Amino acid sequence: MPIKYTYLEIKKITNGFKDKLGEGSFGSVYKGKLRSGRFAAVKLLGKSKANGQDFINEVATIGRIHHVNVVQLIGYTVEGSKHALIYEFMPNGSLEKYIFSREGSVPLSNEKMYEISLGVAHGIQYLHQGCDMQILHFDIKPHNILLNDKFVPKVSDFGLAKLYPTNNNIVSLTAARGTMGYMAPELCYKNIGGVSFKADVYSYGMLLMEMVGRRKNLNALANHSSQIYFPSWVYDQVSEGKNIEVQEEPWNMERKQRKR
Ligand SMILES: Nc1ncnc2c1ncn2[C@@H]1O[C@H](COP(=O)(O)OP(=O)(O)OP(=O)(O)O)[C@@H](O)[C@H]1O
Ligand SMILES: [Mg+2]
Repeated sequence: MPIKYTYLEIKKITNGFKDKLGEGSFGSVYKGKLRSGRFAAVKLLGKSKANGQDFINEVATIGRIHHVNVVQLIGYTVEGSKHALIYEFMPNGSLEKYIFSREGSVPLSNEKMYEISLGVAHGIQYLHQGCDMQILHFDIKPHNILLNDKFVPKVSDFGLAKLYPTNNNIVSLTAARGTMGYMAPELCYKNIGGVSFKADVYSYGMLLMEMVGRRKNLNALANHSSQIYFPSWVYDQVSEGKNIEVQEEPWNMERKQRKR
């Protein structure tokens, strides 16, 4: 089980919240160093959005999860309105950095991308079928896939997950969850069928297409106007029996351009 830390301890661990790694919908993430010398990521939950119940869900859920493709929760803090989660540190950050290549990030080979996509699938499968309870994530997206020093992918962020008994295939949801662009349609529209683990499979499919295309699924600046929404384009190609050509590796493209 995860260790309980005091607020003062996490303040020390993070050197007074000095090194900020990023910010999400639940709060900010800071780099820290544990007494053992191990690095950690401390997620300090914002006061306004951090609902106590979400927090307890996350601790209870990931506290009992152990899998190579799921991020490990080391500890937590709960002190009045101050809530924090301490995770193992992922030195290579989140997957979106490598899909939507920016200055400074090293592109990953197609083979590595393939390995990562398999790892993510294993992580999701474990959440769905490998635990006592079925864990539905509901927010699978590149930002929530973290990479360790060897680029092994880890599914993170269970703030939106809920626990369901494994025999319950259709779950009921009171409110829509997830992130636009990755969210399954049944999560948005009430009358098109029940919500199940397939919602995560849908999000995983969206993630896969972004990994293969090395672009945002929705991109108004796409090379061809027919490709503005990549999933529709892929759908059309497949229904016409055409192959989807995997995007060439960025450095090969550069090399070719230089040759010209
Ligand atoms: N364990 C970790 N190790 C290293 N970096 C991390 C870790 N957890 C989070 N981060 C970094 O902090 C950033 C913010 O994470 P956070 O989960 O708060 O937001 P998000 O994933 O963008 O959105 P969401 O709130 O929907 O999860 C991430 O994009 C990632 O780069
Ligand atoms: Mg996240």
